[in-house]
Amino acid sequence: MANAPGDMRCLGVRLGQAMGVGDVVALIGPLGAGKTTFAQGLAQGLGVAADRHVASPSFALVNEHPGRTPFVHVDFYRLRTRAELPELGIEEAYDRAATAIEWADRFPDALPADHLEITLAVEETGRRRLELHPTGPRSQALVAVLART
Ligand SMILES: Nc1ncnc2c1ncn2[C@@H]1O[C@H](COP(=O)(O)OP(=O)(O)OP(=O)(O)O)[C@@H](O)[C@H]1O
Ligand SMILES: [Mg+2]
Repeated sequence: MANAPGDMRCLGVRLGQAMGVGDVVALIGPLGAGKTTFAQGLAQGLGVAADRHVASPSFALVNEHPGRTPFVHVDFYRLRTRAELPELGIEEAYDRAATAIEWADRFPDALPADHLEITLAVEETGRRRLELHPTGPRSQALVAVLART
């Protein structure tokens, strides 16, 4: 449960600290749910410089930020067709970076088999509820680290 943007970011930082090359996080939730806020925390946890502006990559669709582990931040919101996917180069990013994808549910088959699905829901009070669904051993290990820290 995240009561405020700071909590959302904090959760992201903890997960980012646990992430390494090959980890993929799928962020799913309605407009304004906090996906970018969470991704900003991931960037911080991955060691991306604090002065680096991590925003929704809506126009570029993909942004890459150097860090302890390179951070590839993707947004499928404005992606219209599957045919545009290969030119984004994200499949190649899965092997050399830590990746977060906003609106990942729009093109679920573009995700690697093992990814951590995080669903963000906005409650009536405005608080955000996060649900984590690992889909393989790698993402299960990430959830285990998050539970310990
Ligand atoms: N846990 C939270 N509680 C309350 N407000 C939050 C929380 N997390 C984020 N917000 C606020 O919600 C707004 C939208 O957040 P954000 O841009 O991260 O959403 P998003 O899911 O990326 O939206 P989009 O679908 O447009 O990409 C921001 O003003 C942010 O500060
Ligand atoms: Mg966003």
